[in-house]
Amino acid sequence: MRKNLTIAIDGHSACGKSTVAKLLAKELDYIYIDSGAMYRAIAFFALDRDLAEGRTVDREGLVEELEKIDIGYKRIGESVSLYMNGIEVEPLIRNMRVSQVVSPVSTIPEVREKLVEIQRAIGKEGGVVMDGRDIGTVVFPHADLKIFLTASIEERGRRRWAELQQRGVELSMDEVINNLLERDLIDSQREVSPLMQAEDALLIDNSNLDVQQTLNRILALVEKLGS
Ligand code: CDP
Repeated sequence: MRKNLTIAIDGHSACGKSTVAKLLAKELDYIYIDSGAMYRAIAFFALDRDLAEGRTVDREGLVEELEKIDIGYKRIGESVSLYMNGIEVEPLIRNMRVSQVVSPVSTIPEVREKLVEIQRAIGKEGGVVMDGRDIGTVVFPHADLKIFLTASIEERGRRRWAELQQRGVELSMDEVINNLLERDLIDSQREVSPLMQAEDALLIDNSNLDVQQTLNRILALVEKLGS
């Protein structure tokens, strides 16, 4: 198996991209980067600094503050975590407040420019699995393998709802599904780097596949590349 492949996994919200991408990276002993977590971190920053409220973001205000945001991964012992200005962000970004404003924040070209630069720097040596919305189209247009993952909205709603329940976040199925649909719409209609399947990406609809089956499909594709 080649050790330095670049693997891009894009797709709709809550179809299990991150879960599968993380397992794939582990299996291959590659770096895993959740690019969505970086956009969520910037959305959290905007909320925290009163530069966003509800679904509205003060675009100019946030752009002015962007250079003050230091974002990247830190290895502590065995684990690698995303940090923003010295704070581990993962516990702060998986809630509805952030989910409501992250797509509007992600339409800002300066935000994307900053994050894409960081993502390219992390992935420049290869040996990376990165998931998001524009990885195969913009971040790594020459990726060795591009997957576009999707699933039915009902199934995505069920998966995200269960995930939130498990973490103690009480939301109705309607609230969860509405947020997914709203983000899909903003993400695919924005002017800069819209969510879309790259021409050379392979589509996997995993509505009827579990995590292991999805992973196996992708691993089979990786093996073909390695031989
Ligand atoms: O995990 P989930 O499917 O809910 O989304 P995520 O990967 O955490 O991404 C959150 C949001 O960040 C998306 O809805 C997009 O608005 C934005 N995003 C983006 O614009 N480009 C990326 N490469 C990744 C995420």
